[in-house]
Amino acid sequence: MAVSSSFSLFILFLVFAFAATAPMGKDYIVGGKPDAWKVPSSESECDSLNKWAEGVRFNVEDHLIFTYEAGKDSVFEVSKENYVSCNTSSAIKKYNDGKTKVRFDFSGPYYFISGEKGHCEKGEKVTVVVISQRSIVSPSPSASPASAPVAPVQGPAVAPSPKSSANVLQGGGVLMAMGVVVAAMCFF
Ligand SMILES: *[C@@H]1O[C@H](CO)[C@@H](O)[C@H](O)[C@H]1NC(C)=O
Repeated sequence: MAVSSSFSLFILFLVFAFAATAPMGKDYIVGGKPDAWKVPSSESECDSLNKWAEGVRFNVEDHLIFTYEAGKDSVFEVSKENYVSCNTSSAIKKYNDGKTKVRFDFSGPYYFISGEKGHCEKGEKVTVVVISQRSIVSPSPSASPASAPVAPVQGPAVAPSPKSSANVLQGGGVLMAMGVVVAAMCFF
């Protein structure tokens, strides 16, 4: 009896110890494949990065990885306004090393565009919304003091992107409306 209960305590301890030392963040390759960070080759691919991102639950401490040819492309983290207008002139962060690994330190929306001339306008951009599931657990040892309030880096933590699928889904001509929206977003 005593043996069995201390044994289950030991198991319990192991479970907690494992949970505490388990890797904290997951790595995601943008678009789910290594060559996805590029100008979409067709209108049907135009919004594919955002479609992919909408299907992923990003957490604080996860990483987003962009792979591309160094020097030929880049990744700029920008504000929502600059994401929408493809304005590369005041990026929050710029990367052009070919294998960019972005760590999400805060919950909220993140906006990434290509820094190359014309690429963002043609659809090389992605929005990611990070949730703060881990904020209910004890603070991570690597967290910086400044990270205490879980606030978005920039802008209010509102809808992930300007388009709302709820609006589009009502009424007829759904596909047509979506086609127009996508085409307008990529090749205006
Ligand atoms: C881009 O952003 C900068 C800084 O916010 C601003 O000064 C500039 O006017 C913007 N350019 C365009 C084309 O909107």
